[in-house]
Amino acid sequence: MKIAVFNGSARKENTYALAEAFREGAEAAGHEVEVYQVGKMKIGGCLGCEYCHTKGEGNCVQKDDFEKILPAYKEADMIVFASPIYYFAMNTHMQAAIQRVYCIGKPLKAKKAALLLSSGSDGVYDSAIAQFKDYMAYAGIENAGIITAHGSENKSGSKLEEVREFAKSL
Ligand SMILES: Cc1cc2nc3c(=O)[nH]c(=O)nc-3n(C[C@H](O)[C@H](O)[C@H](O)COP(=O)(O)O)c2cc1C
Repeated sequence: MKIAVFNGSARKENTYALAEAFREGAEAAGHEVEVYQVGKMKIGGCLGCEYCHTKGEGNCVQKDDFEKILPAYKEADMIVFASPIYYFAMNTHMQAAIQRVYCIGKPLKAKKAALLLSSGSDGVYDSAIAQFKDYMAYAGIENAGIITAHGSENKSGSKLEEVREFAKSL
């Protein structure tokens, strides 16, 4: 499978480690993986202007780094959202990366998706998980799995191994 991983963090720390562990496992299983660190990209929020659905014919009026990830939304067989939790939700960068897909409606080829979340505390995932599940149900994409890491689990050998094994099992 061609797998696109979107990492919402701007840092090379906890979410990055989850995304890289996923890459290692998936590549070991023979998948083609591209990780996009959307947290470091300049991606504006959707303006809701409807340019994409009228004159733009599927293209967004905003010319920014979303153009770097749009091909992945069109071509990937699997999408992985990896995000830090900010105030009980996926962070702003990830939200922008998710919501700008409005220009094409939903990922075009993806049959599977997964969610990787990193946080300081446990018990902070309800909103992110509900959004992911509802979005995947709407898009007709199978929820292949959700892995969370909080506190000392972040970057721990056992958690990264769990992510690797999950990615290998796809
Ligand atoms: C602005 C901000 C908001 C945060 N909000 C939460 C939160 O609501 N709950 C929580 O457990 N951790 C929260 N955290 C901690 C991060 O989720 C945690 O440090 C995470 O591992 C960071 O991932 P990263 O290293 O990939 O950036 C917050 C951190 C920041 C910077």
